[in-house]
Amino acid sequence: MIQVQNLTHRYGDRTALDHFLAYGYVPRHLCMLAGYAKLPAGHLLRFELEEIADGEEVSLPALIELAEDRGRPASHYLAAVALATERGVAPAAATTIRVCAGTCQRWGALDLLDHLVARHAAASQPPFAIAPVSCLDRCDHAPACEIHGAHGQLVVAPATTAALDEALRELAT
Ligand code: FES
Repeated sequence: MIQVQNLTHRYGDRTALDHFLAYGYVPRHLCMLAGYAKLPAGHLLRFELEEIADGEEVSLPALIELAEDRGRPASHYLAAVALATERGVAPAAATTIRVCAGTCQRWGALDLLDHLVARHAAASQPPFAIAPVSCLDRCDHAPACEIHGAHGQLVVAPATTAALDEALRELAT
């Protein structure tokens, strides 16, 4: 502890260190080095998304193709849409799954997004729209999802791939 105190005294941002010790990571722009800040999440992927954006939207098939070309999971680009752009993801559908891609990433949100992308890619017709968002205000139940449609709103939180599949199956019957 003496070493940590010395380190923060000389170089560290005490708030960032407190967060790291409490949560295991340093949120938002904070950095443990005093005087430095992290780039916003998704900052670099945002520029790649600009290449495929069409107005206010990014097409999911184009995003998947971009992810395959760049050797990254599609979830990283979907998270960047939510965190680093003002855009939405097309195509729309009667059912929309809103997925928190913010801090819920620490609790498996990216796996959920990749699972939904796989389901989407396997379907002949778009079965649902995927709407990544930065927070659903359900942080206590991370990772959080909401399924919106004719049924109203169904909250799946904490969400798992199995819970999402089950919810979608029940809504389809
Ligand atoms: S960070 Fe995911 S619901 Fe708030």
